[in-house]
Amino acid sequence: MTDTFADYLLFADRVFKTYPDGDVHAVNGVTLGVREGEYVAITGPSGCGKSTLLNLLGALDRPDQGEVFFRGESLSKLRDLDRFRARQIGFVFQSFFLLPTLTARENVQVPMFEGPPLSARDRAKKADALLDLVGMGKRAKHRSAQLSVGERQRVALARALANDPVLLLADEPTGNLDSENAAKVLDLLTALQKTHKLALIVVTHSLDVAERADRVVKMKDGQVVEDSGADLVPTPDAAATG
Ligand SMILES: Nc1ncnc2c1ncn2[C@@H]1O[C@H](COP(=O)(O)OP(=O)(O)OP(=O)(O)O)[C@@H](O)[C@H]1O
Ligand SMILES: [Mg+2]
Repeated sequence: MTDTFADYLLFADRVFKTYPDGDVHAVNGVTLGVREGEYVAITGPSGCGKSTLLNLLGALDRPDQGEVFFRGESLSKLRDLDRFRARQIGFVFQSFFLLPTLTARENVQVPMFEGPPLSARDRAKKADALLDLVGMGKRAKHRSAQLSVGERQRVALARALANDPVLLLADEPTGNLDSENAAKVLDLLTALQKTHKLALIVVTHSLDVAERADRVVKMKDGQVVEDSGADLVPTPDAAATG
């Protein structure tokens, strides 16, 4: 049965999530397969469960029911989720959670401590290369508190790439930015997805973001109500019978 899921980088198999203090099913039976290198936009009204689904896909939270498979392996069976996340997935959020007193170069290195061992010199070198990639090479020594909002988001993007993830998850990555900076970050995300052959899942209200994606998944009331790549995804029944 898991052979079917193994064709996907990520496969959510009928996942449900209800918050303890909530009476709503934030995610109410979602089946979604994402292939290596695929660019997927998730859209839908506020409160429909986009962030909750993203948290389940990125192993930041566990489903109440159903399972998420990464390359055919159930996340519920992984011993060390922190390590898995740090090595395979890059995260970009609306608020970027950079450490304000650390420099850009230091912030980018933070996830590397959970990744394959590198010398201090190699870490710094890699951080600088990533900062160059996002056009922030000249700001490497600035503390994040000294950077503009758009610059911080670019550093956050560099940080998300610190361990060469195969999957990038972004929750409203341009939500805090003015249109000019949003366009810059968006260009960068699109370029990185192509050059690094990343699977990219972006939660967004922005039409610009959705238009660039290979596939748009629309959610409503905790469910997927439209999926432009649905023909790529087996129905739950097909998956269950293999
Ligand atoms: N920590 C929480 N505790 C209780 N309920 C929550 C929690 N987080 C989210 N919810 C509820 O779960 C539902 C889905 O929330 P979620 O954050 O996934 O929506 P969203 O689609 O990301 O919305 P937005 O576009 O506003 O970010 C909402 O009804 C929300 O109120
Ligand atoms: Mg959200």
